[in-house]
Amino acid sequence: MEALEAIKTRKSIRVYKPDPVPGHLIREILDAAVRAPSWGNTQPWEFAVVGGPKLKELQKRFQTQAEARAEPAPDLPFPSFPEHLRQRSQENAAQRLELQGIAREDRERRRLEGLRGSRLFDAPVAIFVYMERELNPYALMDLGFVFQNIMVAAHARGLGSVPLAAGVRYGAMVREFLGLPDSKALVLSLALGYPDPKASLNNFASARVPLKEVVSWHGVDGA
Ligand SMILES: Cc1cc2nc3c(=O)[nH]c(=O)nc-3n(C[C@H](O)[C@H](O)[C@H](O)COP(=O)(O)O)c2cc1C
Repeated sequence: MEALEAIKTRKSIRVYKPDPVPGHLIREILDAAVRAPSWGNTQPWEFAVVGGPKLKELQKRFQTQAEARAEPAPDLPFPSFPEHLRQRSQENAAQRLELQGIAREDRERRRLEGLRGSRLFDAPVAIFVYMERELNPYALMDLGFVFQNIMVAAHARGLGSVPLAAGVRYGAMVREFLGLPDSKALVLSLALGYPDPKASLNNFASARVPLKEVVSWHGVDGA
């Protein structure tokens, strides 16, 4: 798949076939992804790849935490947003529910959909991305580069994925589960698997603000 096509057609996948993903394929994707640039080639990213019964156990724990409405305790504080960005997020969520035919007032279906998200959408594989806790925000950029590479490379190999803050909501619990020390900070998780082609949710095309709202041109006629 050509690079621009892969970037433009990648989208978050939230319904997976149960089929396992071969380990050698995940290795190929990670091997390509770590070609990402990083400050001074420090390569601050570290990964935990989880699947099979081990992931099922973790997904069950996430569901239990969500049902108990446990207070989130991520290693990095979750962001809050100014109004215009919050609005984009709310519109995005509303559009997704509409596509799924879930009414805003249908609390039970929204709850069940929320729980599916807590279970990392029941994906057959999850990748947890973490780094040394002491690192500064530039390392987070490096993790972002490698994360995007993973998603695009997976897409180019016919796999789907979605980045999930949901998987790092309970940092200490996940680190303990993975045997990671307190000196590491979990940054983000990724659900990975084969997209279910029958699921309409997988066709959801998230909007983007027009480029003219976010780009200014200086000595270049790109407008
Ligand atoms: C840092 C980060 C955290 C995210 N966490 C979640 C999440 O917990 N649940 C979810 O359904 N999607 C999550 N997403 C996916 C975004 O909702 C999605 O990327 C966005 O709506 C754009 O859609 P697209 O990926 O299809 O282009 C997250 C994305 C990022 C970058």
